[in-house]
Amino acid sequence: MARLVLLLVAVAVAPSFGLDNGLGRRPQMGWNSWNKFHCNISSQLIRKTADLLVSTGLSKVGYTYVNLDDCWATSRDKLGRIHEDPKAFPEGMGHLGEYIHNQGLKFGIYSDAGDLTCAGRPGSLEHENSDAQSYADWKVDYLKYDNCHAGDIDVRERYPIMRDALNRTGRKIFFSMCEWGKEAPWLWAGPVGNSWRTTGDIDPSWERTMYCLDLNEPLYPYAGPGKWNDPDMLEVGNGLTNVEGQSHFSLWALMKAPLLIGCDISKMSAATKATLMNEEVIAVNQDPLGVQGHRTSRANPNGAELWQGPLADGSIIAILFNRNDDLPANITVSFAFQGTAIDMEIRDLWLHKDLGQFSEFSPIVPPHGVRMLKVKPAGGKKTPSGAELLNATTLTSYYFIFPSIKTKVQTVV
Ligand code: GLA
Repeated sequence: MARLVLLLVAVAVAPSFGLDNGLGRRPQMGWNSWNKFHCNISSQLIRKTADLLVSTGLSKVGYTYVNLDDCWATSRDKLGRIHEDPKAFPEGMGHLGEYIHNQGLKFGIYSDAGDLTCAGRPGSLEHENSDAQSYADWKVDYLKYDNCHAGDIDVRERYPIMRDALNRTGRKIFFSMCEWGKEAPWLWAGPVGNSWRTTGDIDPSWERTMYCLDLNEPLYPYAGPGKWNDPDMLEVGNGLTNVEGQSHFSLWALMKAPLLIGCDISKMSAATKATLMNEEVIAVNQDPLGVQGHRTSRANPNGAELWQGPLADGSIIAILFNRNDDLPANITVSFAFQGTAIDMEIRDLWLHKDLGQFSEFSPIVPPHGVRMLKVKPAGGKKTPSGAELLNATTLTSYYFIFPSIKTKVQTVV
């Protein structure tokens, strides 16, 4: 009871800024083993992935965390210390971390705030100090902390215990919370974690990607430097089409989601690589303003959508998104300030091209596709700016294009 009262007091007085460990000023970028490899992980895979992050140039554009997910641990010794699977990781975690660091990369690890991890490996509940110290000894830089097998102890009690244990080691360790948005972490976890999952697990289907997107979208007011909403890791390269992969990446970038690659880098196609390495889109994600973009209008749940977000330089990003499964859409956005049409300069972040000045822009967007635009007032004019600029850009109409009759037949405003 005393613990609960203390906790309530702590929550009540806690300021609403991000966890003060100096980490996560920009959304985290890197690679994680789970989406593609699940429990089939080994030192060999992790070393190879670290090499590839460097040789492909992925690390240069920002993907620096190499994160092991579940299944690296198998047992505790008599002193309660956690140990890696000796077959899969014969060199030990310390040496693996050293290898990763020698590549100029950062080392991430996984545990769980319950007795067991989701895959049934030892969890950290009641071993928080010992585990945090092991991580620090191994020079770990990142902890993803899951929430399986946690009994009925409140998550708001369990996660701060690991945060404090990590802090006490004196090593700066990014704290990535993974309780799937069950207890609305965006409302209380700013001072606890650097990021928190907002959804159940993603999978490489379009439907599941949209499920994660839609749950994460309304949470935009709660994200910011040091405290990011996490709609789960990327599935680019795991089975989505190239168009879908570009949309997934664009929307995650705009939402300031962590960009954690989830595919087998050794087998990534040229198209997957081009998507993951689009530096203009990455720059949106890593923009120092750190404001999560969101959907500003949609015509119906399976139609055209306009997503927007501001950047530090005063411009905005607008994503014209066609949610329809089969039909291309002619989506029109218009730019008007205080009732008067205004010209905007538009740059396309996938074509890597300045498109010119427009008071209305009306591209055809393929099914499940996006156009991602950087928009600013033409001629360097200062007004409208900031929030006004977001209001100035509106979805005015869209038409689905039915190929059989080769004509635009449906209008929705
Ligand atoms: C949970 C998490 C996943 C992954 C698995 C590992 O389901 O949400 O991201 O870490 O556990 O078992």
